[in-house]
Amino acid sequence: MRISVIGCGYLGAVHAASMAHLGHDVVGIDVDEAKIASLSVGRAPFFEPGLPEVLESAAASGRLRFTSDFAAAADADIHFVAVGTPQVADGDAADMRFVDAAFSSLLEHVKDGDLIVGKSTVPVGTAARLAELIAEKQPGATLAWNPEFLREGFAVKDTVSPDRLVYGVPDGAAGERATGLLNEVYASAVAAGTPVISTDYATAELVKVSANAFLATKISFINAMAEIAEVTGADVTKLADAIGHDARIGRRFLNAGVGFGGGCLPKDIRAFSARARELGQGDAVRFLDEVDKINLRRRTRVVELVREEAGGLAGVRVGVLGLAFKPHSDDIRDSPALEIAMRLAEAGALVTATDPQAVENARRRAPGLVFADSAEEAVRDADVVLLITEWPEFTALDPVGIGALVAHRTIIDGRNSLDPAAWRAAGWTYRGLGR
Ligand code: UDX
Repeated sequence: MRISVIGCGYLGAVHAASMAHLGHDVVGIDVDEAKIASLSVGRAPFFEPGLPEVLESAAASGRLRFTSDFAAAADADIHFVAVGTPQVADGDAADMRFVDAAFSSLLEHVKDGDLIVGKSTVPVGTAARLAELIAEKQPGATLAWNPEFLREGFAVKDTVSPDRLVYGVPDGAAGERATGLLNEVYASAVAAGTPVISTDYATAELVKVSANAFLATKISFINAMAEIAEVTGADVTKLADAIGHDARIGRRFLNAGVGFGGGCLPKDIRAFSARARELGQGDAVRFLDEVDKINLRRRTRVVELVREEAGGLAGVRVGVLGLAFKPHSDDIRDSPALEIAMRLAEAGALVTATDPQAVENARRRAPGLVFADSAEEAVRDADVVLLITEWPEFTALDPVGIGALVAHRTIIDGRNSLDPAAWRAAGWTYRGLGR
């Protein structure tokens, strides 16, 4: 099929490359010339395991190209809109400027019979509004909303083999045709038995934000238990194991620590709350404000733990392991790790931070921080070591070897990902979160 993908960020670049990998003819379009230049030579503009390989094989097949010229969309019949919906600067709502700009540029080049597919995470009601715009500007085209559930670090796998496909489509024949076309786009996943939920626009939009709200709630639930564990001497990791054995609860997303960050969960729950308030249903999701607060309190708790262990922050040497919001990513958007590192430095601590992939992004955001190329370099002469992003190379560190490099053997495990017994045996003061 002939596909255009508007927006070549974390979502769109992966989608474009994956669609070409599945055999479709794809053009990726973005207003960011630097991104296009990089993708055009097969170079991923961000770290995502598996993406370079898919980009390379798709480019070699001749089925994938990138451009900043929207007119290239005219050659495609199905147009995916995958631009970002960040949080507005002065509130909680989603900033819809990029979605609106993408639709208005795209509509100049859409023809009768084309299918426009929204993938961006949007406030419920957006698809209905955009469908009206399409009806006015290009009544021969149809809109579908097909939310994306990919996780960074597993983005290619999640795109090629998703665990479900959700299509928001209009009623009647146009909707049936849209479902049929999307089933052709995702033919390999559909043939493999992937569940397909074809529904109305509002449900499709809500599936996405409610899934993220549920995941965020699960993480903040266990972090709330960590707060209780901290004052009672209980161990939240054992608690999570024990409740996780109940199949109705499940162990996944019950890892207590510094909480969630990234380009999705934090801003999506805030945008959901903001939209619910607009709809007069703020009470229904007021708990999400609490979920957000619990999450942010964990960052403060880590800063306080460092202060407690070091007897102050001014002049204290802190070796920070991790800057990305999670391992296997270079993404520092709303990263607990970067925020904690910056807050420590602002309070006068002498922070040296490292991350296997995110140093360059962090340096651009926080040029005042000191960065190191390795864990060994980051912790040299440290008074406190702080592990915040659980990269395998950090969780595998040898407490004896690392112990020889630091000034004081104090480690704060912001992800509860180390074996406290092994670190204590090597002479370390070990502090986890909620254990
Ligand atoms: C998330 C959703 O999982 C995905 O479906 C959606 O499409 C986009 O948002 P992502 O942001 O890539 O994906 O990361 P995810 O793996 O969900 O982790 C989110 C954050 O939660 C990370 O900061 C992670 O460290 C944290 N987390 C996760 C915890 O603190 N504890 C856990 O048990 C799990």
